[in-house]
Amino acid sequence: MTDDTAAGATGDWSGWRAATEAALYGPDGFYRRLEGPAGHFRTSVHASPLFAEAVARLLCRLDERLGRPARLDFVDMAAGRGELATGVLAALPADVAARTRAYAVEIADRPEALDDRIEWLTGPPKNITGLLFANEWLDNVPVEIAETDASGVPRRVLVRRDGRERLGEPVAGAEAEWLDRWWPLPAEEGLRAEIGLPRDEAWASAVAAVERGLAVAVDYAHTAASRPLFGTLTGFREGRETPPVPDGSCDLTAHVALDACALPGGRVLPQRDALRALGIAGARPPLTLASTRPAEYVRALARAGEAAELTAAGGLGDFGWLLQPVGLSAGMPDAPLDGSLAELLVDVPDHEEQ
Ligand SMILES: C[S@@+](CC[C@H](N)C(=O)[O-])C[C@H]1O[C@@H](n2cnc3c(N)ncnc32)[C@H](O)[C@@H]1O
Repeated sequence: MTDDTAAGATGDWSGWRAATEAALYGPDGFYRRLEGPAGHFRTSVHASPLFAEAVARLLCRLDERLGRPARLDFVDMAAGRGELATGVLAALPADVAARTRAYAVEIADRPEALDDRIEWLTGPPKNITGLLFANEWLDNVPVEIAETDASGVPRRVLVRRDGRERLGEPVAGAEAEWLDRWWPLPAEEGLRAEIGLPRDEAWASAVAAVERGLAVAVDYAHTAASRPLFGTLTGFREGRETPPVPDGSCDLTAHVALDACALPGGRVLPQRDALRALGIAGARPPLTLASTRPAEYVRALARAGEAAELTAAGGLGDFGWLLQPVGLSAGMPDAPLDGSLAELLVDVPDHEEQ
């Protein structure tokens, strides 16, 4: 009898994936609560309206690339309370907003006061022409955790509702292959890895909903060159980091292996580079403005502070942006994307500059 079947017999123990699924998304799950994610932590979306402005600018550039389609889709994937979709609609120029269909995809219920123009869905719409944007989604897609035992064998970590852990059966099959390919564990006792396979699959299925356009996943990330030795699973509650306990009382999150999620043609950039390319800079306004136009100076100073937070080293600026183009190069030989995706962020003039 394996540890796992022993666990099943008592009913107390499960892998972290099932435990997280129940704790976050079960009937009384953390993300079903009325206060929403913003009641517990600040994402880039909550940190500043500049973030939604940057995403709106990206949507405008994409609109140009797509030849200004009659229907331009914006999908706020894992939308929380729809804050990003709301901010993007507010930031779009009127003629683009008029052609934009905005969707919020979320497990939790639609908030009462949400803008009527935003359609609330439990899964992405099909045949998206435009932008699917997933801010801090993949870190909340539940994963199994592996830990090496005393013989150096990676085993599934089992957990109880109170957060107590023990080791289960050796990791096998597709999960073992994923570990070998993306996060090989040296044979040293106690090393841990989060098995990102369900995130790769979740991302692939979201990208599959895009017919033409761009899918972007933004998250705490690491790549093969810098995997953390002991994993990154942690909890958040009411603004504070907490031990990860799968009882529905806190968020459960683990950084994302974005390089593993990337599909062919995908590219990962730091948020600071992506936002700078979209016109978000943390530079202070010139001091002379303070005496000539003081109100404007104060506004510009506040914006510079918010931009600095969104691009900060050691903070939100270190987040990864996975940019995944779909069908953008076809028929547009003058606009190659595959080699340098960052061009999408910089080479098309702003809509307002046309
Ligand atoms: C960390 S919050 C991010 C919210 C918002 N994107 C933001 O940046 O403020 C993660 C959200 O993803 C939602 N979520 C997780 N998995 C989902 C799925 N498969 N489909 C839709 N929403 C999902 C959760 O309910 C939660 O509201």
